Amino acid sequence: MLKAIYPGSFDPVTLGHEDIIRRSSRLVDELIVGVLNNKAKSPLFSVEERVKMLEEVTKDLANVRIIPFGGLLVDFARRMDAGMIIRGLRAITDFEYELQMSQMNHKMEAGVETVFLTTSLEYSYLSSSTVKEVAAFGGDISQFVPDVVADRITEKMNKKESVD
Ligand code: PNS
Repeated sequence: MLKAIYPGSFDPVTLGHEDIIRRSSRLVDELIVGVLNNKAKSPLFSVEERVKMLEEVTKDLANVRIIPFGGLLVDFARRMDAGMIIRGLRAITDFEYELQMSQMNHKMEAGVETVFLTTSLEYSYLSSSTVKEVAAFGGDISQFVPDVVADRITEKMNKKESVD
């Protein structure tokens, strides 16, 4: 049984992430989307919120599970008994960091291989941080994120505005 982990911060999940999830779910028997729970990063969405949004986005995919994790990715992979890490590559600028991370992970855990999927062309410019920036300035983000996420970001930004 081929089990893979697609890890990330997903703060929030974009259409680019969704595309990688859908394509990689067809390549493996089970895909675990690992949601990083890193309190030091002070994300816009709590890990519970990010997990919930991902669950909604992937509810039609029977072989996909969403699981939060903290600590090292290779330890999480070991716990999940997964032999593969999947990462998306948007552009050459992603490559250096991704190469370093995959080599580091392989050095720590030789039983886990990183496999890269190139992002579909229509999403190659997309990132969670640019989506958040556009939303913070009141821009329309509906073409960048799944519908459930667009609604949540708008709610979150409105709440932030009333507090600030
Ligand atoms: O969506 P992101 O922020 O690009 O995802 C980065 C992620 C979660 C894959 C990476 O930060 C990670 O694996 N963090 C867990 C800690 C870890 O294992 N660090 C060592 C990597 S060399």
